[in-house]
Order: sequence, then structure tokens, then C-alpha cells
Amino acid sequence: MKSILVTGGAGYIGSHVVQQLTARGERVVVVDNLVSGFREAVGSAGLVVGNVGDQALMARVLQEHQVDAVLHFAAHTVVPESVRDPLKYYGNNTCNTRNLLACCVDAGVRRIIFSSTAAVYGMPVGGIADEQTPTQPINPYGMSKLMSETMLRDLGTAGAMDYVILRYFNVAGCDPQGRIGQSTPNATLLLKVACEHAVGRRGQLFIFGTDYDTPDGTGIRDYIHVVDLATAHLRALDHLRNQGESLTLNCGYGHGYSVREVIDAVQRVCGHALNVVEQPRRAGDPPMLIARADELRQRLGWEPAHDDLDFTVRTALAWERHLLAQAMDQH
Ligand code: UD1
Repeated sequence: MKSILVTGGAGYIGSHVVQQLTARGERVVVVDNLVSGFREAVGSAGLVVGNVGDQALMARVLQEHQVDAVLHFAAHTVVPESVRDPLKYYGNNTCNTRNLLACCVDAGVRRIIFSSTAAVYGMPVGGIADEQTPTQPINPYGMSKLMSETMLRDLGTAGAMDYVILRYFNVAGCDPQGRIGQSTPNATLLLKVACEHAVGRRGQLFIFGTDYDTPDGTGIRDYIHVVDLATAHLRALDHLRNQGESLTLNCGYGHGYSVREVIDAVQRVCGHALNVVEQPRRAGDPPMLIARADELRQRLGWEPAHDDLDFTVRTALAWERHLLAQAMDQH
């Protein structure tokens, strides 16, 4: 039986995809350097600890595990950090992807599903992007991913690879059964940070920017539950296995929530008020980013199961409580 290689499979999104793959009986090998991932998050899948940019390692993994499709998650993802340290992003996200692709071409691995981002659109007119919207990243993170997309499209044109590029909007929530979640230390994601504050692990919650041209002045994003996003990957894999054509697809619900609406949902779910502190805008943040996501439905037959902000918050908060209990046990 052939294997699926999942790079970054010990991370937040990758681990949720690994969980769904193994649940349906796929043979999965994860390569993760565990810089921001967690060994226990890969469950029963095989784990090779190492760097995706290490061509000798990757060539060996592709061959030894008879890999026939790659799901490539391994990346740095924090927008403000990419503004401060762009080469970290071009190195890990772009150069390492180039090396991985070279190994795939050498090994004859033709199928790849690539984790891209809404950040490739930058600040689309009206804050809404479909897949034809011009790509104009406003931060190095978005550019580092767009460069990887370009390599894939060029390889597609050269007849060397079939790909599905998934452009994630704002991924949120955790496994509803509480087995895995978002465990990144020093997290920056709004919902994660809000839940950390809600369980008492942060003293306050900042709103970055209250003077945007949006109804309540705060940034608007399209938050997609990680389980629905993971399902999109399985659909994409099936599509490529059925000889489907290469695709670039937005992953979102097609509607958004402001920072204040997300905070209200967290307050509703946790049952107490949060200590919210208004701050200036954060570098690199667009005011609004919402997906036109009809293509994902039409091309892959994907349907969301968890388009419900309070449900998303409940799963995120439950994981945060689990992490808190774990931390208290260790002391
Ligand atoms: C996230 C992703 C990025 C992706 C983008 C797509 C990560 C780490 N980031 O970035 O990879 O390209 O979605 O849209 O996965 N905010 C606050 N206070 C906080 C944190 C955030 O007000 O403490 C605000 C931000 O200014 C922004 C919104 O909340 O308006 C969402 O921010 P965040 O959760 O950090 O995600 P993005 O920056 O959108």
C-alpha cells in the first residue's frame, strides 16, 4: 500500500488532517521538525523528525514509504513575525518547499496538496476574494506562500506535477472530541489568544485596530473550523487520485466576523466578561478578508459541517481548558 506524506503533520492543521486520514485507513507518514508541532499530535501515524528542506532525508522518506501523494503543511505562519523577519519565511516556506518539490520530481511523486493562504490576496477590493482575484500579498508570509504556489503552477505546466492549492482563510477551533488541538506556545491567533485569556492564562486580550473601515471598526475575517478544513484536504486527495485536474481553491465559509464579534462569542461561551484592551493596528493586517468559496464546494463536493462560531469557540475553549489542566498537573 502506498503512503501519504504529511509534512508539518504534528502541527495544528496538519494533525487534524492526519487524524482524518488515519481514521479512514490511509497509510500516513509525517515529517515534522517539532519546532512548533507536537509528537503526540500525530496519533498512530509514523513520525520522522526532520526538516522538509533536507533533500537527503526527504528522498529517503519518499522512497522508503512508497509515497504517492504529499500534503505539505510545514511552514511558519505568523504574519507580524514575517514582517519582522522576512528571510525566516522565505527560507522555511519558499526555499524548503522548492527542495521538497525537487525530491518529489526526482522520486516521480506527482500529487501534492499545498497549504496556501488568503494572505496571497493582500487587501482585495471590498475585502472579498475569489480565486481569480489578483494576488498582491502585503506581507512576506503571503509572498512566501505565493512563490511556492508559482513553483507548483510552473511544475504543472511542465507536466511534472498535479496539485491542489488550498488557500486557507482563518482557521479556528479544534477536534470536537478533544483529542488534539492548537497547542502552539506564544500563539498569536485571535481565537486561541482569547481562549487563553478566558481560562486565565493571559491577563488581557488586545484588539489590534479599532479604526478600520468596517461596521464596528475592527478587522473582519472568515473563520473556518479546522475539521471542515481538514475534510477539504481529503476531498482534494480523492480528486487527484481520480485524475482530477490541478486546482487552486479558497477555503472559507464565505462570510466573516469582526474581532469584536469573536470576542462576544468567547464571552458567551465562557460565561464571563473578558478584559479587552484596545491597541493600534498590527503591522501587515488587512481590514477585511473573506472568501468566495463556491469553487471548493463545486469542484470537490465539499460541504461544511461546522459553520457555527459558537461551536468553533466551544471546541477551542475546551482544548484550552485541557491544556491548562495538563499544565497544572505538571506543577
Ligand atoms: C491568519 C493566519 C495566516 C493567514 C490569515 C488568513 C496564523 C498564525 N495566521 O492570520 O496564516 O494567512 O489568517 O486570513 O495562522 N487580532 C486581535 N488581537 C489579537 C490577535 C488578533 O485583535 O490578539 C485581530 C487581528 O488584527 C486580525 C484578526 O484578529 O484583525 C485575526 O488575526 P489572527 O487571528 O492573528 O489571524 P490573521 O492575522 O488574519
